[in-house]
Amino acid sequence: MRCVAWTGTLLGFPVMPACLFLMCLLWGFAHTASAADLKNGRSMFFAGGCASCHAAPASAACDNPKIKDKLILSGGRCLKTPFGTFYAPNISPDKESGIGGWSSAQFIKAMKEGISPKGEHYYPVFPYTSYQRMREGDLLDLKAFLDTLPAAKSRVPGHDLSLPFQMRQTLAAWKWMFLDGQSFKPDPKKSAKLNRGAYLVEGPGHCGECHSPRNLLGGVITDKRFSGGPDPEGKGIVPNITPHKTGIANWSEADIVTALETGLTPSFDTFGGTMVKVQENMAELSADDRAAIAAYIKSLTPIPSSAGKPGKP
Ligand code: HEC
Ligand code: HEC
Repeated sequence: MRCVAWTGTLLGFPVMPACLFLMCLLWGFAHTASAADLKNGRSMFFAGGCASCHAAPASAACDNPKIKDKLILSGGRCLKTPFGTFYAPNISPDKESGIGGWSSAQFIKAMKEGISPKGEHYYPVFPYTSYQRMREGDLLDLKAFLDTLPAAKSRVPGHDLSLPFQMRQTLAAWKWMFLDGQSFKPDPKKSAKLNRGAYLVEGPGHCGECHSPRNLLGGVITDKRFSGGPDPEGKGIVPNITPHKTGIANWSEADIVTALETGLTPSFDTFGGTMVKVQENMAELSADDRAAIAAYIKSLTPIPSSAGKPGKP
């Protein structure tokens, strides 16, 4: 402002717009530079487990649990569900095969509303029912981080779904029932640590997407959230992670932290199945974030297991 006043008095009116323009330009630079926090974007990437689905499998077998390179998001992994087989698309910054041509607004719409730039509904196998809780700032940082990854060309097969599910229009009704459009709201009565844990678990971490039973329409049964259930990918069960005796009552907060960091469970076992990749991602987060997740999980309401098997202490 001093700049405007100065030039206004000393040099006269015509210089003012030029000066204002310069100020806006400088402010603009400062703003874009500070808007993208790549370190936070990286944390959101690992908390969100994007590579678990979007990184190419290590071999031609589309369901090979191993990943070629976590940072090459050329897609092609197949996810077998009761509704059919989904193929994760290329979300690398390649303009043709990936999402390199997307604006930030298009990215946010996909993550929070499950709507593509063409206006089509995404299938909720892309866990936007959790990602909708993410803060816009975190999504912008995540996009900025994705933009730094290698652009990779690929051709991903179309989904192979049974009949009623082939029609994306039917998803409008599904979303009406199971997508509430709410961002995460911190609970002022809880500590900063518990709120951080709640955000990571309910939002990017999407823990409830695997650890909850679903109804016949594939929606999470709200009052049984986190009590385990059949594996959404069709094999076996996912355990109860509420502090019930059929869940993780016997795990201390420190046990959960250790397991998230190293994959070792209190019964001297290691994580198996899809939790292996989740754990590898958790190991990339800060120690504070893992502690926050553990504290939040231990604070959940204890619910008897929906998975049909008692949890392993
Ligand atoms: C459980 C597997 C899974 C995870 C985890 C996952 N996605 Fe996806 N994602 C999918 C599938 C499957 C689709 C395709 C959905 C469709 O066609 O309706 C998709 C679609 C997308 C799209 C739309 C791409 C396009 O070409 O239209 C974007 C963007 C996206 N995901 C970003 C992400 C990001 C960012 C993360 C991590 C925060 C992530 N996804 C995590 C499975 C996943
Ligand atoms: C892609 C699906 C998936 C997601 C997402 C997921 N989990 Fe898991 N989780 C599993 C499976 C499957 C197991 C069982 C692993 C095994 O058999 O060793 C498991 C096991 C666990 C266990 C051990 C429970 C026991 O009794 O053995 C804990 C704790 C856990 N998960 C916490 C989390 C947290 C916290 C998150 C979110 C950050 C999360 N999980 C996200 C699939 C998932």
